[in-house]
Amino acid sequence: ELEGDERAFQERIDAGVRIEPQDWMPETYRKTLVRQISQHAHSEIVGMLPEGNWITRAPSLQRKATLLAKVQDEGGHGLYLYAAAETLGVSRDDLIEALHSGKAKYSSIFNYPTLTWADIGAIGWLVDGAAIINQIPLCRCSYGPYGRAMVRVCKEESFHQRQGFDIMAKLAAGTQAQKRMAQDALNRWWWPAVMMFGPPDGESVHGAQSAAWKIKLHGNDDLRQKFIDQTVPQADLIGLTIPDPALSLNAETGHHEIGPIDWDEFYRVVKGDGPCNRERLATRVEAWEKGAWVREAAMAHAMKQRNAA
Ligand code: 3HC
Repeated sequence: ELEGDERAFQERIDAGVRIEPQDWMPETYRKTLVRQISQHAHSEIVGMLPEGNWITRAPSLQRKATLLAKVQDEGGHGLYLYAAAETLGVSRDDLIEALHSGKAKYSSIFNYPTLTWADIGAIGWLVDGAAIINQIPLCRCSYGPYGRAMVRVCKEESFHQRQGFDIMAKLAAGTQAQKRMAQDALNRWWWPAVMMFGPPDGESVHGAQSAAWKIKLHGNDDLRQKFIDQTVPQADLIGLTIPDPALSLNAETGHHEIGPIDWDEFYRVVKGDGPCNRERLATRVEAWEKGAWVREAAMAHAMKQRNAA
């Protein structure tokens, strides 16, 4: 039974009142937001690595410019989200340290390798497609700074998804070798994209509490199903096959039912033992260390500006 401030807080949440940084909030609400927003930010920054791998090898100037714009957007999303997390009284350096030490998570999806150019299409189409489905409800989440950051992020994500689907459509309509490359990428990215939505609601550690606080407006399974129902017809449209022999359309519910998800793989990747986890963290640590002089110079310049003013 909630008492005093906590009860009043929950009544504000239930009444749809947006919580702002200066408002009173339970320490547990603040902590779970720092956890989720910082891990979301880490996902955006680490997510730049798989795609960044192909900027210098894009097949045309137009594809290179588009991919460069997308990777730059992801960096910007990370900075919005770190700034949103800082409104909860945490320092960026502490958040980055939590990522580098392995204490904080980032999305499992970014621990898979990008082996061919078609992977860039599959990531835009599937990963950003999944991200849009997960992030649109977050625009309405109870914590103001997080919801407002999501509005801008979601606008840019739709460009990300369209450019990815365009790459896949062109390859699927190309030579046999190109179609095989697109199908191979779909085969490798489909299940990790389905897992991106998190564990089944029954195993979701934070789901119920995040729902009570209107941080999570839909369960992991609902959003996963929405993604599947949206994506299967898109694959059909361009003549690619979803790598799931058990996939079937339930005529009654209108939903596409899928075969079993390999949750062992999910938890293995989340725990740090996926194909690229070590490489991704090492790359981030190296970038942070080699970039220290840039941060110091920027701070020195800002101090000079301030003292001169
Ligand atoms: N990868 C890594 N960890 C995951 C995960 C995933 N796909 N799904 C769940 N987890 C972790 C959770 O973080 C939690 O661990 P923690 O307590 O150490 O944080 C644990 O597994 C239990 O899962 P829960 O369902 O209880 O956790 P949540 O309630 O936090 O739900 C979530 C997980 C749905 C990912 C939620 O955190 C969320 O909506 N986060 C915001 C969106 C986000 O982070 N998206 C990730 C990708 S960002 C992106 O795609 C950018 C785009 O531009 C490409």
